[in-house]
Amino acid sequence: MEKAPQTEYLPTTFTIFGITGDLSRRKLLPSIFHLFRHGLLPEHIEFIGLAIEEKTTEEFHALIADSLRTFVDGTVEENELTQFVSLFSYLQSDITKRDAYDVLQKRMHDSDKKCDAPHQSIFYLAVAPHFFIPIIEHLDASHLTGPCPEYDVKAKIVIEKPFGRDVESAAALNETVLKYADEDQIYRMDHYLGKETVQNMLLFRFTNPVINDSWNPKAIERIEIIASENIGVEQRASYYDTAGALRDMVQSHGLALLSLVTMDEPNSLQSKDIHEKKQEMFETISIFDENNIESSALRGQYEGYTQSDGVAPDSTTETFAQLRLKSSHPQWKDVPMYITTGKMLASKETRVQIHFTPCQSNICKTQGIRTEPNILELRVQPQEGISLKLFAKKPGFYVETQEVEMTFDYNASFSDEQPSPYERLIHDVIIGDQSLFPSTEEVMDQWRIIQPILDTWTSSHDHPPIYTYPKGSHGPAESKQFLS
Ligand code: BG6
Repeated sequence: MEKAPQTEYLPTTFTIFGITGDLSRRKLLPSIFHLFRHGLLPEHIEFIGLAIEEKTTEEFHALIADSLRTFVDGTVEENELTQFVSLFSYLQSDITKRDAYDVLQKRMHDSDKKCDAPHQSIFYLAVAPHFFIPIIEHLDASHLTGPCPEYDVKAKIVIEKPFGRDVESAAALNETVLKYADEDQIYRMDHYLGKETVQNMLLFRFTNPVINDSWNPKAIERIEIIASENIGVEQRASYYDTAGALRDMVQSHGLALLSLVTMDEPNSLQSKDIHEKKQEMFETISIFDENNIESSALRGQYEGYTQSDGVAPDSTTETFAQLRLKSSHPQWKDVPMYITTGKMLASKETRVQIHFTPCQSNICKTQGIRTEPNILELRVQPQEGISLKLFAKKPGFYVETQEVEMTFDYNASFSDEQPSPYERLIHDVIIGDQSLFPSTEEVMDQWRIIQPILDTWTSSHDHPPIYTYPKGSHGPAESKQFLS
């Protein structure tokens, strides 16, 4: 993997709440291990893991080793493992109780000689959302989030989605968080923003004049974002059945992708410039018709969902959501935007499609040539890359065109290993780069956009309908018509 740009790393104490949970074991520990392996952690860093279970240091280190052996691709050498686990200590705690924070504070002071030199504290909340507020309140009460008096280095707090479950709860969460911490201390993880292909979107648009010049409503007919999954709710039914596809995927990942595809060019790639343009764009987006939710959103549920473990037998939670959106931005005024997501579909893939206005030229008209749109596809995953569907003359005596495809494939063009989204984002937290983390305003806009749909879908069981679809299909049959 290529080295990250030269960075001054501060000595760091990195505390993980929920260290024994699924997220820590599957994502955080393997990602931190990759950073360690590639020399992308501060020279002086220590990790403190908190969880409710009793564990000896040996048991804790064995848990880390097991996570790495299970979730890191390739071999983990014993000597790397020994060095890595030595960075971690365990604190058995009930994180809802104040005492836990006194012990944490003591542990941090004992071990890092905090404030003898510039030093940063990172608190990663890898726990269920209902713990966010109590943890942040306790951290504040124990003076763990403030800067050292001698050095103005503020602590950082990392929160996992969901950031609320509607406008009201998101506003309450943000208000509490901002009571105890400043915006520049809060890092909200949306792992889609850490994907290499997603980061490429702005560069691809704004560094290729041929693309940038075509990025306008005269040339673009519609935008489609598709994030399909071929798995179901797995072990997460208790969370998912209270969330659904709209909250789980559209509010965060789907709208984040849409903002990157449509935002104006920022002055630079600095966090503040990116956030400014993203937010300006979000402010212009709304669902297609707030007075007619059925024309703006379609929901579905895969067959057998209600028989899954942990799902209510009469659940009306959607596992498929399709939205039609619009923007009041002069550049995008008449361009419909669609976001589609669902579980248990035919394939796992995330892509953004830009449908260009079909050929209007005299040649097309006079020769009766097929006039379908050219489609530019940005493939986020899998087979990361970009393709452009064009028309070319079919060899032979007749004037006839055929669709052909120009493609760029990440793996074929770049041999470097790509950092995983979590690696990238954790590294950004360590170095204090917030460009890839949604701001308070962005999160609020994302909720504001989907709130009318949430209101309608949750207030009535029979109307609008929830269409069922077979597992492994392309979603409800009605979806085709919705898109047309
Ligand atoms: C998460 C959702 O944010 O993203 C999951 O909570 C979903 O339900 C996952 O499966 C999809 O992420 P990816 O990176 O596999 O597309």
